[in-house]
Amino acid sequence: MNVTRIQDPGGAPDLPTSLTGIKPTGHPHLGNYYGAIRPALELAKTYRSMYFVADGHALTSLKNAEQFAEYSRSVAATWIAAGLDPARTLLYRQSDVPETYELAWILSCFTAKGLMNRAHAYKAAREKNRQAGVADEDLGVNMGLFSYPVLMAADILLMRTDVVPVGRDQMQHVEYASDIAKSYNSQFGSTYALLEPRALVDDSAALNTVPGTDGRKMSKSLHNTIPLFASPGEVAALIARIRTDSTPVEAPKNPDDSALFRLVEIVADPEAARDLGDRLRAGGTGWGEVKKALTAALLETLAPLRERYDALVAPGSELDDMLAHGAMRARERALPVLEGVRTAVGFPRGRKL
Ligand code: TRP
Repeated sequence: MNVTRIQDPGGAPDLPTSLTGIKPTGHPHLGNYYGAIRPALELAKTYRSMYFVADGHALTSLKNAEQFAEYSRSVAATWIAAGLDPARTLLYRQSDVPETYELAWILSCFTAKGLMNRAHAYKAAREKNRQAGVADEDLGVNMGLFSYPVLMAADILLMRTDVVPVGRDQMQHVEYASDIAKSYNSQFGSTYALLEPRALVDDSAALNTVPGTDGRKMSKSLHNTIPLFASPGEVAALIARIRTDSTPVEAPKNPDDSALFRLVEIVADPEAARDLGDRLRAGGTGWGEVKKALTAALLETLAPLRERYDALVAPGSELDDMLAHGAMRARERALPVLEGVRTAVGFPRGRKL
């Protein structure tokens, strides 16, 4: 491979590295933005950060080539529009780094099957089938889903990651990556050792508190999301649908019980939110007005991002070069790791591209 040497991607070279994957199974929504993307970009200031579009993981559930390409592009464009600077922070698509899949196979040979049997996501998929009255290993339970944690371990270990910032739901997967690294290391660590990662869970992350249009946590699987870059008309219509109580306009209201008001607090500037809260408590302000205020605040906040996003998602945009460059840098980092592991297990060394 013809690799151009790049400068150290920002910060001191001894900063610990962090890596996170984003599964492209939909268009990014408000919950992703406020709960994951913004905190992650904050973290990029104190870590040498790497983000990738985990398209191999999405393939376990998404089998539609057009949607697949659209979501992958949308995720990458969103992160850049939100402020990720690809000159400092590594951004790539997993499928552009084929070393991942080779390492995944090798790692699968160091992974106890029983460990996979106990993985939450696999257990949940089986349980769902059982409840639907179908054979529990059938519907949606492909080998990709079963060995999902191994692929995730490959993502993490291939890039010599110190910490993996994830939500609580992904903690088990990061522990598995560490277990798998240990299992490999105990056999071959004296020849070439993999770095054992740890999870970095931010419980304060707004992720768990960004409510969806039905008041439950905003989540694609609950069909209650507000996509970040839906058209202004769609955003207004989705916000109009947010459930509120039927207190009349004149009556005083408790904003703290309201998912709608919680969204205002997340999106609007703090002073405007406080003011609106006071007016709700005093009475005379209806929920319809709050919806209008939220719509306006959201569209205003997102306007600059939307412009950047639209330019990046357009076919043939500079996003292609950014991702190609990211992949090259990722592979540059990955190749010596894979070479170390290949050598340790006894595969021929010095393979050329
Ligand atoms: N499994 C993660 C999710 O569903 C996505 C992911 C794939 C990931 N590979 C990763 C996260 C490596 C962190 C590190 O959100």
